[in-house]
Amino acid sequence: MRTQIAAANWKMNLTLQEAQTLLDNILKQTDNIGENRKVIFAVPACYLTVANEKIANTSNVFVAAQNVYSKKSGAFTGELSVTMLKSINVNYAVIGHSERREYFNESNQFLADKVKICLEENITPIFCCGEALPVREVNQQNDFVTRQLEESLFSLSAEEIQKVIIAYEPIWAIGTGKTASSDQAQEMHAHIRTQIGRKYGEAVADGISILYGGSVKASNAKDIFGKPDVDGGLVGGSSLIADEFVPIIKALK
Ligand code: PGA
Repeated sequence: MRTQIAAANWKMNLTLQEAQTLLDNILKQTDNIGENRKVIFAVPACYLTVANEKIANTSNVFVAAQNVYSKKSGAFTGELSVTMLKSINVNYAVIGHSERREYFNESNQFLADKVKICLEENITPIFCCGEALPVREVNQQNDFVTRQLEESLFSLSAEEIQKVIIAYEPIWAIGTGKTASSDQAQEMHAHIRTQIGRKYGEAVADGISILYGGSVKASNAKDIFGKPDVDGGLVGGSSLIADEFVPIIKALK
């Protein structure tokens, strides 16, 4: 079975003290996550080291950066490199979140470079894709997401793409309280898997974890995660509340 993953995306939220309390709270309620499961906390960059210390004695719990730059070092004020992440023992990074694409103009090509550099440094990219509402309204979501995959991931080798985690996040469902139905999620996840299969073969496609993101809550996680091609979630708002995120972790297959 594919690895099932509950990934928290804290975005630009929480003070250090709040972050520590939240992590303590979640970790004490989830000491046995299970063999085939992972919990990943994508925390603000300034909390990566502290979060890593907190998870030091856990198993199957990891910390992720929310973003990384496409170069290993140099004159790029304010940016964070894969080399730096590696040096503080951070092994995951969210790449191409829709907020990065929208507010920071990150293009598919730029994201391809970021994915590539992550893999060079053995950092697992959690690659986000997904369409905005106008695209879905004209029923173009499959083609739109296919293009994101082709332009950002499909120049990878088969060996490389197997190391990527994909997160499908329909933009119209992010932070809106509006969730894609579990059937809509399944439909797109199956589409993504088919596209990967078309390019790399079914065995490769079958091994890749595809997470759903967009208003996942304790109350809908079981239904969404229960779908055959949904391998967990990337969770924003509900990951900031222990009483929401703990049941989401427990809803993993
Ligand atoms: P949300 O955010 O759960 O608050 O909708 C998900 C995300 O942006 O990763």
